[in-house]
Amino acid sequence: MSRIIVKNNGSLSGKVCISGSKNSSLPILAACILTKGKNIISGVPDLSDISTMYSLLESLGVKIDVHKDRVVLDCKNIVHYTTPYELVGKMRGSFLLAGALLSRMGKARISLPGGCPIGTRPVDLHLKGFAAMGADISQGHGYVELSAKKLKGARIYLDFPSVGATENIIMAAALAEGETIIENAAAEPEIVDLTDFLIKQGAKIEGSGSDTIKITGVKELNPTTHKVIPDRIEAGTFIVAFSMTRGYGTIENVNYSHIKPVVAKLSEMGVDIKDNGNNILTINAEHTLRTSDVKTLPFPGFPTDMQAPFTALMSTAKGTGVIVETVFENRFLHIGELNRMGANIRIDGRTSVIEGVNSLSGAKVNAFDLRGGAALVVAGMSAKGETEITGVEHIQRGYENFVEKFAKIGANIVFDKK
Ligand code: UD1
Repeated sequence: MSRIIVKNNGSLSGKVCISGSKNSSLPILAACILTKGKNIISGVPDLSDISTMYSLLESLGVKIDVHKDRVVLDCKNIVHYTTPYELVGKMRGSFLLAGALLSRMGKARISLPGGCPIGTRPVDLHLKGFAAMGADISQGHGYVELSAKKLKGARIYLDFPSVGATENIIMAAALAEGETIIENAAAEPEIVDLTDFLIKQGAKIEGSGSDTIKITGVKELNPTTHKVIPDRIEAGTFIVAFSMTRGYGTIENVNYSHIKPVVAKLSEMGVDIKDNGNNILTINAEHTLRTSDVKTLPFPGFPTDMQAPFTALMSTAKGTGVIVETVFENRFLHIGELNRMGANIRIDGRTSVIEGVNSLSGAKVNAFDLRGGAALVVAGMSAKGETEITGVEHIQRGYENFVEKFAKIGANIVFDKK
């Protein structure tokens, strides 16, 4: 079983360069199949979730050439419309192919993604959108089958501003007949990155980044080139790591406006963060930090993906902090593990109450999900002694060169591959 072993090595310091966003790359790679030619995407991180998306696209007929600085996706021939369970089961983001595939092929047979440790994560809102656009939908044997000769624009109200549902509906609507309006749409930066890409392909989209998005279907889209935005969650994780070890450092390739809610909370806790322009931030946490109260919300609220790293950070800050998780119903699996490291955290429903302790102590812990796993590694950097983290495959899904980047800023961290 592979492990990450972390030993306390004092404060982190130095410079980190943030990779391209995983959550932007996934829908953008899916959207390539809306065109019949070669799209060139740069900034796509080298991660296992991205490899899964490449395998899915290849299984449909896309020819993919991965270069060091760009990926070329030749979507001339899409010959299949089924995404196999073996791949979809690895990553929920695979469902992002539904809208584009339905649009391109007139049908899509997508394995249902199922639940995951952080919640049941249904796809009802995605399906509601496709149905409103005239798709026939049937389910059986673990697959959902979608078909529509020609999708038609519709007015769609989302009960919750789901990121994935918003992306899927936008992709389906880009080539549909007429106008689609998504109300209560998600406004995450990754949505704006996807629509920027689609607009370059020739799509007509207004209002992206707000809660109402209007898509006017066009006859065809053309291949283009695009660079994905920086990963705001990776940036947040590194800022938390500098803060957790009371260190200081510089983060490059980060869009300040994307991480404002995270910066606001860190400032409340006592971390000094300066926006130096040119996508560069400096962080100084060389003093006592206080806990804060946090509620996760859709963008521009505090991101649920930063909840676990913040829990780790607050566990050694001064005072009592409260975190309310409103986006996913079961995103607290890291808390039992943090308590094994000496944290004092209670859970009551969707709320966790964190009593700051002086320090954590290294222990053997397990990562149950991606961000929870990253939180345990960061916690280990400030804990006394050695922390051994298993379940590292979850972390590899979402962080590029995770161990190498931390080692470069002074962490004592080793990846033990078994
Ligand atoms: C995306 C991100 C994930 C992030 C999440 C919320 C990707 C690949 N993943 O996931 O990192 O944590 O946004 O910012 O971009 N829901 C339904 N029905 C649906 C769809 C969603 O009830 O049809 C619920 C989910 O169970 C969850 C909430 O809505 O409780 C938010 O989910 P959603 O925004 O869809 O997250 P993802 O797109 O899966």
